Amino acid sequence: MIGFFDSGFGGLTVMKSVVERLPSYDYYYLGDNARVPYGTRSARLVYEFTRQAVDYLFREGCPVIVIACNTASASALRRIQQEYLPRVWPKRRVLGVVRPSAEAVVERGGRSVGILATEGVVTSNAYITEIHKLDPSVHVVQQACPLLVPIVEAGEHDRPVADAAVAAYLESLFEQADRLDTILLACTHYPVLKSQLERHVPPGVEIVEQGPVVAEKLEDYFKRHPRLENMISRKGKRIFRTTDSCDRFDRLAGMFYGEFISSELVRLEGAS
Ligand code: DGL
Repeated sequence: MIGFFDSGFGGLTVMKSVVERLPSYDYYYLGDNARVPYGTRSARLVYEFTRQAVDYLFREGCPVIVIACNTASASALRRIQQEYLPRVWPKRRVLGVVRPSAEAVVERGGRSVGILATEGVVTSNAYITEIHKLDPSVHVVQQACPLLVPIVEAGEHDRPVADAAVAAYLESLFEQADRLDTILLACTHYPVLKSQLERHVPPGVEIVEQGPVVAEKLEDYFKRHPRLENMISRKGKRIFRTTDSCDRFDRLAGMFYGEFISSELVRLEGAS
């Protein structure tokens, strides 16, 4: 199974794209809905929560995990890869969404790039760092959008409040750079707001979503790591677990995943 982890529902947007591109593998999704949002929490807590999720998914039998959450990818992934895995899970792999998204932006020729993300991701500067590792001449500006995740989580994405919030954040983003050619939706929840974003983004600016990018990069990663790829089961399994109410998860998950989901409750080590 390929494990997918997110702070809540949002990672389902990423997993959906991966399942569409690579349907033969088994998938195991874990959403930490009891503790969402991660975007406003300290890096220390995000690391601790992410480590618990990684332990859970490995124990359930996933040889590889995709951290679909940008906040966790930005604040916890490097430490997990460099310190935790070599010590505790040396044969398993954890991948994130920041590096593949940064690569996609640069490969598409972005020269002036706007990042929309949570406060945690913006504070970490992870996207600026990764994009500049690939091409230091790319101009990058970022805008934290703390209202967007709660609006989407509340199912209010089709209401005027969503449109107003998107417009205000885009205005702040464009105030930082005269001309942008690319906007990266660096948060799992923002694809749900794509029509509002498209309404307020000037023509000619490319909006990059992470789902298709992660799917393409993961396929490529498996080609380069056949031993790991061979360890992934293929029995048509789709497992969904949440740390909070299954009823609510099943009701709202369709908005992110596009089809009916039946989840089960799980308690992560250390969660209250
Ligand atoms: N999954 C988070 C991300 O992509 C958004 C929700 C949260 O703040 O936990 O950054």
